[in-house]
Amino acid sequence: MSAPAPPKRLYIKTYGCQMNVYDSERMADVLSPLGYGMTDDPANADLVVLNTCHIREKATEKVYSELGKIREMKDARRAEGQTMTIAVAGCVAQAEGEEIMRRQPAVDLVVGPQAYHQLPELIARSHRARGERLSAEFAPEEKFDVLSATRRPTGVTAFLTVQEGCDKFCTFCVVPYTRGGEWSRPAADIEAEARSLAAQGVREITLLGQNVNAYNGANDAGEGLAGLARRLAEIPGVDRIRYTTSHPRDMDDTLIAAHGDLDALMPYLHLPVQSGSDKILKAMNRAHTAESYVRLIEKIRASRADMAISGDFIVGFPGERDSDFEATLQLVRDVNYASAFTFKYSRRPGTPAAAMPGQVAEEVKDERLARLNALLDEQARAFNQSQVGRILPVLFERPGRHEGQLIGRSPYLQAVHAIAPPHMIGQIVPVRIEAAARMSLSGVLAEALTPA
Ligand code: 5AD
Ligand code: SF4
Repeated sequence: MSAPAPPKRLYIKTYGCQMNVYDSERMADVLSPLGYGMTDDPANADLVVLNTCHIREKATEKVYSELGKIREMKDARRAEGQTMTIAVAGCVAQAEGEEIMRRQPAVDLVVGPQAYHQLPELIARSHRARGERLSAEFAPEEKFDVLSATRRPTGVTAFLTVQEGCDKFCTFCVVPYTRGGEWSRPAADIEAEARSLAAQGVREITLLGQNVNAYNGANDAGEGLAGLARRLAEIPGVDRIRYTTSHPRDMDDTLIAAHGDLDALMPYLHLPVQSGSDKILKAMNRAHTAESYVRLIEKIRASRADMAISGDFIVGFPGERDSDFEATLQLVRDVNYASAFTFKYSRRPGTPAAAMPGQVAEEVKDERLARLNALLDEQARAFNQSQVGRILPVLFERPGRHEGQLIGRSPYLQAVHAIAPPHMIGQIVPVRIEAAARMSLSGVLAEALTPA
């Protein structure tokens, strides 16, 4: 555990009606998990919010005159090596918009009325613009926040981090606050590491990033993930390339095309959708609709027909009604997933969704989760079953539990069990699939079937 961040001071000046008083209280609520406690002394505040009102005469001019005073306090703090963030919220913010920042450049951000739940995102962005990380006190939750390498490295497969951070600000997620903005490692560094892994016997590399398909090669002339994959596929020994996790927004045509013609790029894509309801997707700030996601999947399958699709889903997001949940089930039927990860919405204080109305009862979440899991399980089983009778190239990774057995992976990331000699670990071998279970396949070496 790192030392707790020092408390930050928040000063809110509220103008006007009872509605604004209420909003100011909510702002204090959503900011407290980011480490802000109230102060009544603006001169010592780390964050000053003017929650404005338009009704009274000369309201706008009053706000500008107040901002002039606060700007002097900001300058005084800067002279002492401290910072101050100035936010204008409420009706004047609505009416004046960006004009406020033009007239008073000391203002860092402008938030419309009832948009207090956007404050964490706006503040995180303004800190980033100054090159600072918001040292929020989000308790990490392994299953949501940690870029998890769920598969143990075996010597034959390896993970390689190529990108970190997130600029998407999904309203349920802490990652943009805790991990900072999107950042890509230089392609040359990644290539050097991949060469060294290949020299140690690695045949399959999984490129990791919170938003891996936003990879842009940092200093390397904006090379995208497709360019990186093509580059790595040239390395002798690197036979398989995977990547995770992707955002639908960054799934560009060059990457889709690479799935069609780059043999090393495996036909498995983890592309979280979270919900099938456009209303919920909007509230989640996902920047895609159910339809645009389904169209994207169609495009990907047009490039690579046998692409296995995996996803992440959240049930019980605030405001999710039965009809929204039904839309999620419909999307699942339209896409047909090979595998998936499902979550009950969990309130993360400090994220915008935690302050949203319409929080869903736990029993309702449980019931929806069970129905969603049942459908996804059915699809996963059907997908596995569809491989029976096929011959799949399997990269053997390690000995299995039974004598003489090896375990490997199909191109679609399914675990495959087969009786095979130990020297086949590290080789890609054709296996005829004979049986399918929910989580794995079993088969026999196809070579053993054909007489020499
Ligand atoms: N509640 C539920 N699920 C969450 N995830 C992230 N944050 C939350 C939350 N607050 C899920 C999303 C994401 C995955 C890694 O974890 O589905 O894609
Ligand atoms: Fe979180 Fe959304 Fe970023 Fe994924 S894309 S890390 S869910 S904010």
